[in-house]
Amino acid sequence: METTIELFQKTFYNDKIRLQLTCYILLYCLVLNSGICMAQTQNGKNFQQGKPISSDLFGIFFEDINYAADGGLYAELIQNRSFEYSLSDRTDWNPFTAWELIKDGYGIGTISVDTSTPIQPGNPHYVTLNVEKGGDGVGLRNSGFDGIPLKAGENYNFSVFARQVSGISAPLEVKLVSKNGKVYCNAFIPGLSKEWKNYTVIMKSDSTVSDATLELVTRNPGILNLDMISLFPVKTFHNRRNGMREDLGKVIADLKPKFVRFPGGCLVHGDGLNNLYRWKNTIGPVEQRIEQSDIWGYHQSLGLGFFEYFQFCEDIGAKPLPVVAAAVSCQNSGGSWRVGGTGQRGIPLTEMNQYINDVLDLIEYANGPVTSAWGSKRAESGHPASFHLEYIGIGNEDKQTPEFRERFKLIYDAVKAKYPKITVIGTVGPSPNGEDFDMGWKFANELNIPVVDEHYYMNPGWFMNNRKRYDTYNRSGSKVYIGEYASQGNTWMNAISEAAFMTSVERNGDIVQLASYAPLLAKEGHTQWDPDLIYFNNTSVSPSVNYYVQQIFSVNQGDTFYDHIVTYQNSGNVLSENDSTMAVSCVKDSKTGDIILKLVNIGKKKTSVNINLTRFGKINPNAVCTILSAAVDTKNTLSNPHNIYPITTDYRISKIFVYESIPLSVSIIRIKTKMN
Ligand code: AHR
Repeated sequence: METTIELFQKTFYNDKIRLQLTCYILLYCLVLNSGICMAQTQNGKNFQQGKPISSDLFGIFFEDINYAADGGLYAELIQNRSFEYSLSDRTDWNPFTAWELIKDGYGIGTISVDTSTPIQPGNPHYVTLNVEKGGDGVGLRNSGFDGIPLKAGENYNFSVFARQVSGISAPLEVKLVSKNGKVYCNAFIPGLSKEWKNYTVIMKSDSTVSDATLELVTRNPGILNLDMISLFPVKTFHNRRNGMREDLGKVIADLKPKFVRFPGGCLVHGDGLNNLYRWKNTIGPVEQRIEQSDIWGYHQSLGLGFFEYFQFCEDIGAKPLPVVAAAVSCQNSGGSWRVGGTGQRGIPLTEMNQYINDVLDLIEYANGPVTSAWGSKRAESGHPASFHLEYIGIGNEDKQTPEFRERFKLIYDAVKAKYPKITVIGTVGPSPNGEDFDMGWKFANELNIPVVDEHYYMNPGWFMNNRKRYDTYNRSGSKVYIGEYASQGNTWMNAISEAAFMTSVERNGDIVQLASYAPLLAKEGHTQWDPDLIYFNNTSVSPSVNYYVQQIFSVNQGDTFYDHIVTYQNSGNVLSENDSTMAVSCVKDSKTGDIILKLVNIGKKKTSVNINLTRFGKINPNAVCTILSAAVDTKNTLSNPHNIYPITTDYRISKIFVYESIPLSVSIIRIKTKMN
């Protein structure tokens, strides 16, 4: 029987043409064939040479939810330092929230809030202290964020903007005291000028306490104005002024995240159009920042702003991943704690040019030369060098409406045109499937958006059952950023299900570019969203067991994935991956040359796996093995923070060996291929 090719050839009269045509057809077949090979390689099989995977895979998601910023990571100890709290934050809040008037020793005076001549128009409220009789001191007391924690021997930077409106200029005394008046430290600010001026003083605490209050008093009659009353520990993370809490900064840094997404979450697209996060309001001197309410039902001083986020990323060696709103507000605007929800609203199209310029200016702020308009502002804040921005997210879980799509496209096109090297991340709704997910993906592929942001908060079973989710994703469309995920709990069963899923994320690190657990931080007594990765109060930090899973995966990332290194067995019978309770992955880190095996046993029995490293040539038999495990389904808490944590020991291996994985455990074996 003649083949199609032969029949095709017969119709041609000329041998030369026939020869040429045959060559073309053979070439076509070769290309087709190699295409099939490529497809096989990309579908998670047959990686003899290893498959390149993202070197930015595991990072973190920071959002000011659960008091993550003010009262949390941001080291400011004074609550409502600028008297900007209002009932748009919370119905029982006002400019005096966390403050009270002090009248000691028969002092007589009043406090009121003024807005007529502020330090900066964007920071309108300040206090007028009217002292009729000084007594033993008239002034203000601040209770901090659930009290002010102090450490004996530590220094604290106090700062205030003040002016003497009338009366004799007299010293202001600042002191940190207990509830019954014990003074831990104090200092004096000499007489005040008639104009707004910033006064600073350093005080050393003589005690370690968790619930001090700050008092600022005068003993002379007169009228004073006060604003931006602030207290920071001198020791902050990396000793930054206006910096982060040292212990929280460190526990985040210990995750060694490859990137930090900020500032959210829903916070980005805000509660109504007036509440979009505007990065330009968050930079420059803190007294000039324009504060606003937080969609999670409290207040953002924005002392932790975009400069501080970029600097924090640099301090911890992570790439910055800012997210801006897609010029629409959150579809849930006007939620349970607000009256009269507005839902999703778009910035008027007539104002889109301005909004787009703000997004372009952000990229210039991060990367532009000091001679550029926004690069010079970065330099003014003390950072002339670029922050090396590579990624920007546009939108967060937005409803896929025509209003959203129109605005997204305008922003996306402008960024692509001006900054073609920046990787734009789009959004595909709040769930792992459904209408917004499908429409979002279709839109992403129409626009060739480089990466899209998937979110899912699902139960542990979902994570176990979805380990093949990315095996069949189209390799020629947009890549994936798993921007928010968590398995709805902080017990070991939750964490181990995340670990099992993460092996599959690593296996698919060619299509999944980035992944971050969410949310990151939660303060005791202010937790609106559970689970979270790290719990804290004013003095302690408790990394969850989920944190340790993230950490051991993050510090053990690679950039090439290898298949068929680990095979499964049980009582001597070799099993397929589907029959085994093991979830595994093998990567190599090209920087160190190390091979890293991740072996997750989600079963309640010991399970053995065969490991064959012959493909890698020479290996060092002295490996290390990190194990995270728990026999019972327990969790870490603030009162019991060390229930579960990883233990690393030396581990001797050979090129071919059997690893016995204990029940309900994550093992990470790190093997050197360089001999010294
Ligand atoms: O992570 C908490 C919230 O969950 C985020 O703000 C939002 O994007 C998601 O719905």
